[in-house]
Amino acid sequence: MRAVMMAGISGLALAGLVAACAPEAAPTGAARDYADYCAACHGPAGRGNGPAAVGMQPAPADLTQLAAQNGGVFPKSRVMGQLVGYTMGRSESHMPVFDALREGPVVMYDDGSGQRVATPARLVAMADYLQTLQK
Ligand code: HEC
Repeated sequence: MRAVMMAGISGLALAGLVAACAPEAAPTGAARDYADYCAACHGPAGRGNGPAAVGMQPAPADLTQLAAQNGGVFPKSRVMGQLVGYTMGRSESHMPVFDALREGPVVMYDDGSGQRVATPARLVAMADYLQTLQK
């Protein structure tokens, strides 16, 4: 009887685990980082309308329009600059720098200048993720 109950419980736990691995249930990688660190201000789809954006000056950028506002080209090095923190303080910005996203492996990243710079892999993945949001 007890063994049957245990089997039932572990079966349930397994079902929960499988559900947690389904892509819609739990985003992974940069999509997950985005949900955790960015969506509050920039909104779940990047439109700049997250719950924390109300009344914020300057308003969080609409991240789906970065390419459209740049002649159709995703401004990757500018985005990386923002994420790495180079461009902090250019305004009374509420945009924080995310130390958590600097943790983990580093990759050699070429921003297009031909120079490869050691950059946290999660920030590079985030820039690639933002590129997928372009409208
Ligand atoms: C506390 C609110 C807040 C959070 C959280 C936040 N941002 Fe921002 N973000 C802003 C604001 C405000 C601006 C516009 C002012 C500026 O450019 O600094 C901005 C601007 C940006 C820009 C610049 C757009 C451009 O035109 O160059 C990028 C890229 C960006 N955010 C990405 C992110 C990403 C990725 C995250 C999560 C890792 C994030 N932001 C989290 C508030 C936020």
